[in-house]
Amino acid sequence: MKIISADFIYTPEGFIANRAVAFTDTIQEVDTLEVLKSKYPDASIINTEPNSVLFPGFINTHVHLEFSANKTSLKYGSFMPWLDSVIEHREALVSACDNAVMMQECEAMMRSGITTFGAISSFGNELEVCEKTPQRVVFFNELIGSNAQYADMLYGDFMERVKASMSCEASSRITPAVAIHSPYSVHPIILQKAVNVAKEHTLPLSAHFLESQAEREWLEHGEGELKGFFKKYFSTETPVTNIQEFMYAFDTYPTHFTHCVQANQVELDYLAQKGHSVAHCPRSNRYLGCGRLAIENLKQPYSVATDGLSSNDSLSIFDELRAALMLHHQAPINALASRLLQTVTADAADILGLNCGKIEEGKASDFAIVTLNESPKRAEELALWCILQTKEVSALYIEGEQHV
Ligand code: BEZ
Ligand code: FE2
Repeated sequence: MKIISADFIYTPEGFIANRAVAFTDTIQEVDTLEVLKSKYPDASIINTEPNSVLFPGFINTHVHLEFSANKTSLKYGSFMPWLDSVIEHREALVSACDNAVMMQECEAMMRSGITTFGAISSFGNELEVCEKTPQRVVFFNELIGSNAQYADMLYGDFMERVKASMSCEASSRITPAVAIHSPYSVHPIILQKAVNVAKEHTLPLSAHFLESQAEREWLEHGEGELKGFFKKYFSTETPVTNIQEFMYAFDTYPTHFTHCVQANQVELDYLAQKGHSVAHCPRSNRYLGCGRLAIENLKQPYSVATDGLSSNDSLSIFDELRAALMLHHQAPINALASRLLQTVTADAADILGLNCGKIEEGKASDFAIVTLNESPKRAEELALWCILQTKEVSALYIEGEQHV
């Protein structure tokens, strides 16, 4: 048994002062240090530095580790030139992205407090790294392929990757999962088969959805910038699905929809009504010129996530939260800061179906300790100061063991 105390603990009821947590691999009890010491006299005591805040480990629900080698190869500013640059540089970027590069990024995520991440995997290349990192990983095997001619082959490859990630489940902190690339890039027949796989094995399910204006125009009218792309690479001028048909395919299974920047209120409400959640990636959306997701209008739970280094400059969750504060400049800043912390802890854990994300009895002992540089003068501003001042956490625990 270990006992950790901090000036503040972030709980589902907000920040509480002068409390401690007794834990093994799971949280046993939350109380004052004196009470816990007398209950567990043999426990080792961990005292955090003054002005520390004990958080549950942070959760980044959506990242593409396979693109971690990108620095300046991909073109930022607008979605279509970016997608063209992905096609041009994909092979070189993926081959430059070896295990060492990906492990460095897992470590960078840990230094920013991330104890769990959702890895969107196109090729399965990052499975070994995800097995090795101490972090919890929801391993989203991604299905792609709009061309009916190749659909069976691509689906077969996808199922092989699903099985490989399932076989790691017992020996690592990996949860196998399914990701659908997007409405424009997945044929509806294999889409439905993949949704059924997720449903049958109760695997987390995710899909990119309405990221760009180009995607919307293509799905609605078969026009716009994606038309030339499909003509050039796939010799086709008609989309394989439309917005409604794509959404309906997920009706019976809760899904984590990434981006949704170009979804209208009716579509967002439909997703909410069906029990789906949203992954909001503020920097990725800004860098690819996709716009601002109106988070203030969402009726469903949402997470804040970094996306990959293919559309970002770091995988730090605190960099992402600071960007969210800037992007949503109209929102009252303290209320937004509090909500953002909830999106990357309790809400993200609920979305991914994981028993972590809260400092509460019975939850996994995944902790991130944030140390402020002076005592916060007003308690109601704690969330904001934690976001603004944290470049790296001062310690990190996963399942009760220290890793930073
Ligand atoms: C497709 O199969 O339709 C596709 C693949 C990669 C990027 C975009 C579309
Ligand atoms: Fe993504």
